[in-house]
Order: sequence, then C-alpha cells, then structure tokens
Amino acid sequence: MSEPGPLELLTSLCKRRGFVFPSSEIYGGINAVYDFGPLGVRLRRRIRELWWRDMVDLRDDVEGVEAAILMNPRVWEASGHLANFSDPLVDCLGECHQRWRADHVEGDRCPNCGGPLSAPRQFNLMFKTFIGPVEDETAVAYLRPETAQGIFVNFKNVLVSSRQRVPFGIAQIGRSFRNEISTGNFIFRLRELEMMELEWFCAPGDDVRWFEYWTERRLAWHHSIGLAPEHLRLRPHGEDEKAHYALASTDVEYLFPWGWGELEGIARRGDYDLRRHQEVSGKDLQYTDPVSGERYIPYVVEPSLGIDRTFLALLLDAYREEEVRGEKRVVLGLDPKVAPFEVAVLPLSKKAELIEVAHRVEADLRHHFATEYDETQAIGRRYRRQDEIGTPLAVTVDFDSLEDHAATVRERDSMEQVRVSLDQLAAVCRDKLGRPA
Ligand code: GAP
Repeated sequence: MSEPGPLELLTSLCKRRGFVFPSSEIYGGINAVYDFGPLGVRLRRRIRELWWRDMVDLRDDVEGVEAAILMNPRVWEASGHLANFSDPLVDCLGECHQRWRADHVEGDRCPNCGGPLSAPRQFNLMFKTFIGPVEDETAVAYLRPETAQGIFVNFKNVLVSSRQRVPFGIAQIGRSFRNEISTGNFIFRLRELEMMELEWFCAPGDDVRWFEYWTERRLAWHHSIGLAPEHLRLRPHGEDEKAHYALASTDVEYLFPWGWGELEGIARRGDYDLRRHQEVSGKDLQYTDPVSGERYIPYVVEPSLGIDRTFLALLLDAYREEEVRGEKRVVLGLDPKVAPFEVAVLPLSKKAELIEVAHRVEADLRHHFATEYDETQAIGRRYRRQDEIGTPLAVTVDFDSLEDHAATVRERDSMEQVRVSLDQLAAVCRDKLGRPA
C-alpha cells in the first residue's frame, strides 16, 4: 500500500479532530458536500472575521449586506448566468458511462475505462428549485451560484441609505451553490460553498487602477493570515478562460498538493452587471457625480474568495510532521490569528486542588483569548492533541502552582516552557501570541 499523501493525511486529521465531516455521513455521504465540526466552525469564523475586519470594519468606504440566497429568477437572466454559467460536459460512451468536465480530461478517451467520449455539450451549473406548491416553469427559482448578484440588485438601496459616494464598495459573506460536474480534492470543489465577495464601484476608466490596488491588497491579506508567500502567486486569465462578465481577471493561486489552483478570483466586471440589471428591470441604476453632475453606470472591481479553499490552504500550509525524542509529532503550525484555540489550560493531574486552580485560570483567560480546558489523559497526550489542532500555547497548572501561584506556558512550535506568575499570564500570552497590548 502506498503512503498517504498530504491531502489524505489532512482529510483524516480533519475527521479525527472535528474540523470537517462528510455531509450526512451515516447515509453514505453526499458528493462534494461537507459539514464543519466544532474546530472547523472556529476556524471558519476566524477567517470570516479577519476578512470582514480588513474589508469592512477598518475602512469607511465599504458597507455590508446579507442578501437572500433565493432571488427573483430574472436576476439570473440579466446576469447572464442562465445563458452562460455552464461547463462543457462529455459522457463516456464506453462501459462506465461516467460524465466528465471536458476541460478536465486529457485526450479523447474516458479517464476511467478508456472508452470513447461524446461531443461536449454545455451543462448549466445552477441548482434549480420551485417556489410555492406548483412545480411548473413559472415557479422555477435558482440557488445563487455567487453572492455578487445580491449586491448588484441592492446597489441603489445601499447608495441611497448610506452616505457613500463612488468609489465605494459593498461586501457580503454567504453560501452559494454550484452543481459542479467534476468534484474531488476534499473541500476544494464543492457543490455548496461559502464566498466572501466585495463589489467595488468606481468611475469608468478608474477600474484599471482599482484592479491593481485590490490585487495587491488581497495578496497581502493572504500573507497576513499566515500562508507562505512561496505558495502563493498571481495568475492573469487568458482571453479564453475569462468569465462571461469579465473584462480581465487575475487569480490568486495557491500551490495545492496537486499543483497551482485558484484560491481567489479578482475581476474587472466593467458595467456589465448594473447595465444588464438596468436593461432587464427597467430601473435606473446610474450614479450621479455630486460635483460634476455627470451620470454614469459605475464600473466594478470584484475580489471574490471562497472560505472553503482558504480553510483548506491554511490547513495544508500549516500541517507538518516532526520527530521528537523518537516519536512522531503532528503539528498544525497555524498563525495564532486563525488557530481554533489560542490557549489550552491543562491541569497536570485530576487532583481536585489543581482542577480548581486550572478552572479559575481558564475562566480568566477566556475573556481575552479563545481557550480550551482539558483534563483528560496523560499530559504528553494532551500536548500532542493541542499540537495537532494548532493551539499555539498551553498553560499547565501543576502542584508547584499551589505554592508559587505560577503556571508553565508551553509554546507549540518550539516546545519551550517558561514559568509565569498567574497574575502575569494574560499579558505573557498576549505577547507570545503577537497581539497588540
Ligand atoms: N463572483 C465571482 C465568482 O463567483 P469564481 O472565480 O467563480 O468567481 C470565486 O469564484 C471563488 O469562490 C473562487 O476563487 C473559489 O475560492 C471559490 N469557489 C468557486 N467555486 C467553488 C467550488 N465549487 N468549491 C469551492 N470553492 C469555490
């Protein structure tokens, strides 16, 4: 049997430690849909919070919205998704009858059974459903394949209700759905995914400059959450791969175990979406410049990032195995900014006096940090568990703590231990986590 590769090792850790579970697993799962467990939820929340802080909270030129997943179906007619949001599909005409995305198949034979393939046909990736009790064509609705359209249809609402002037942005985080033909690579290509998108509205002609600005800023953000710069690159799209709405696009790519893959897409959408919504809805979506009085449909620059791919890249980047005193140690070397827990509090034994102090220490630290209390198993195994889930610091309360009112702080990466007085613990942890005072 061959050794498991990085993706298999990570998939197994994610299941074992409660980051990611296959959806409806007790029924055999459902392809390309996953659930997130206790640690996965923590990591995802931190990703969302870091993105929102950088894109919305620390700026005065971006507003947030949360639009519904179901939208009037005319949205998808206007946006071009009904006509264009499709991938080329080929069927195996040999033994296995499997379906493939034509651009993912090399050569003209079925990758599974070697049989001949059909000519490609376009397959729309939007999930269809019905609204109300009657399942006919007039009741058809779609699950949104991107959150962006919920922003475009609210452009005027936000403009009028906020004090924003062009250039400004509208940000949204939410679920999207794509009936992907080829899936796989764990949570890389999902049918239910979560996106973090910004639509940046600017004057026509100003979009090239803003596109450069957002490309640079987004790459810097990926560095800031701890992804290794050598595992990230920018790749401009060729003419033949641009989405139907894009004047130009650049992907932020990450070096996944199977090669470079898209992490984030940054696109110049021109005035495509607002112009189409103006045409199809009949509503005026122009902007009036308050100084010059000029009226125009703003141009849009869009950085669009999947939470699931960010999650996967962070875990792959952080995963390492080391040998410590003849034993294997698995470590998730996550940046403290994204670690599910920042500080673990561990009493050395289950003696009542130690547990009491450890509970008190944790009750205090949890006001400052994401903490976990754990009194099960031998201390060595508890350290290994914390290493494996990426907790940067462990505070151990031992018998000496009862006398010297101090505890041992162990660092995940160096495994160094220092003795710290209990009243200094929060300050020392803050410092070690690289948090500003
Ligand atoms: N509104 C622009 C847009 O939808 P996209 O490049 O199709 O652009 C943006 O998607 C991001 O969403 C991708 O860079 C990726 O991170 C994520 N994404 C797209 N499809 C995905 C899928 N099937 N599974 C997981 N993430 C996906």
